[in-house]
Amino acid sequence: MPTPHIAAGPGEIAPLVLMPGDPRRGRRIAQEFFDDPRLVTDVRSIEGWTGSIRGRAVTVIASGMGIPSMSIYATELYRFYDVQRIVRVGTTGGLAEGQALGELVIASSAHTDSALPGLQIPGVSLSHAPAYGMLEAAVHAARSRSLPYRVGPVLSSDTFYGSPPEKVAALAARGTLGIEMESAGLYAIAALEGREALTVLTVSDHILRGEEVSSADRETGYAPMVEVAVEALFSETLAR
Ligand code: HPA
Repeated sequence: MPTPHIAAGPGEIAPLVLMPGDPRRGRRIAQEFFDDPRLVTDVRSIEGWTGSIRGRAVTVIASGMGIPSMSIYATELYRFYDVQRIVRVGTTGGLAEGQALGELVIASSAHTDSALPGLQIPGVSLSHAPAYGMLEAAVHAARSRSLPYRVGPVLSSDTFYGSPPEKVAALAARGTLGIEMESAGLYAIAALEGREALTVLTVSDHILRGEEVSSADRETGYAPMVEVAVEALFSETLAR
């Protein structure tokens, strides 16, 4: 500590971490949700902010895009900063019928077309799944706020552009709720390090209908997702 990608000193990262993909969103979350946010790292412009919410210490730091970048930050946070829980907050391209833009997706598993999580145990296709206690808390938080949400699998893809339509259709036919690019990496690293993880996403576009939210809505529409993620981070059970 510091690590190759995080410059924070000992004790400057909280055990509970919110992790958007985009560093600017991380800064906005710190400004809007934290009391007394302070910048604790900015290696490669990936800013990490530590502050408190309702008196409890929280850090927000971005993952960057894709499973390799997510895997680096998640490993360094769990292994070298003793982080206990990471909740990814991000966007997803929706795949489900009737799913509106702005709905939440709570990822109860993450399929992937990436080789990286599969490298861990040769010959075994690991299940990339969140911590059940945090999943339950997120579902409760979304339901009690009357937010539109779905719980189910997402695809963590290595590609943003050019997914073949038949692949997308086959995923949708198997109940996949959305495509994003990081959750399988986060869940795989959490399992490897013996820590907890969860992903809460906002549907920013619908892949099958070809719709997307305006950039103004993208900037303001993430607050419900962050509120749900915070409830998951603060939930009592450390159920594994
Ligand atoms: N693909 C991958 N990641 C995404 C998408 C998408 O369509 N939308 C938001 N994140």
